Amino acid sequence: MILIDGKKIAGEIKKEIAEEVVKIRKNGGNPPHLAAILVGHDGGSETYVSYKIKDCEQVGFKSSLIRYDDDVTEEELLAKVKELNNDEGLDGFIVQLPLPKNISEQKVIESINPRKDVDGFHPENVGRMVIGLPSFVSATPFGIVELLKRYKIETSGKNCVIVGRSNIVGRPLSVLMSQKAVNATVTVAHSRTANLVEVCRNADILIAAIGVPGFVKGNMVKEGAVVIDVGTTRIKSDKTKSGWKLKGDVLFDEVAEKCSYITPVPGGVGPMTRVSLLQNTLLSAKNEIYK
Ligand code: GUN
Repeated sequence: MILIDGKKIAGEIKKEIAEEVVKIRKNGGNPPHLAAILVGHDGGSETYVSYKIKDCEQVGFKSSLIRYDDDVTEEELLAKVKELNNDEGLDGFIVQLPLPKNISEQKVIESINPRKDVDGFHPENVGRMVIGLPSFVSATPFGIVELLKRYKIETSGKNCVIVGRSNIVGRPLSVLMSQKAVNATVTVAHSRTANLVEVCRNADILIAAIGVPGFVKGNMVKEGAVVIDVGTTRIKSDKTKSGWKLKGDVLFDEVAEKCSYITPVPGGVGPMTRVSLLQNTLLSAKNEIYK
């Protein structure tokens, strides 16, 4: 069994990005600039946004953090999005989700200029991805495909089962995995899938993205399968400094014995998600998606 080291690969990609930034600056250009809007004080969102800002610093990007309390109105937020859409000094921005219940996430996402939508959540980017046009692809699917590529894991003609159909992970990943560059045969399994254990056991590549800790057990995995764990459920812990730890969707000890490759949690998909946002921001700065 080979443990897929997402942290190491993400570190390599960060180095490549930092080198590109140096080149851009040498040629008289500005460093890529990413902004993040954070509403409220949700612990998970605070952590993820602080990572995004730190990642920018590490590769030499400029970053901006715009904060609102959770009583911000939808109108105020939409006005800020409009301002960022028109800010020529900004290559991309994200609105960290979830948003408070009184604000329509869909409305906010649709108000973002697709050319600056480095999260790849706008329907225009999703649609472009589906038909194989250049697009910003959401960070986790982008990172998973990159991880498989860099580990030279054979995907062509393989059965790929994705458990979970979220707009951020499962659904876009199912499109990427079936595209010509990857050529997998894809099944999207979900809460109404019949015979889930057998469906999963048929997978050469099994991707768990449901957000239920330890959901994928040893009996759901074929000998020699590649297992990718997207789960990042925060569990309270008195053993860590932060007071919590991350739990994956895969029961690691049981599953690791059976598979050829597996991603750990943490240190697998998570670092790749983070670096993909940097990759999208660089692509935007270089006008490589929308020319
Ligand atoms: N919340 C959880 N993941 C994400 C993400 O990738 N982008 C944004 N904007 N919010 C999130």
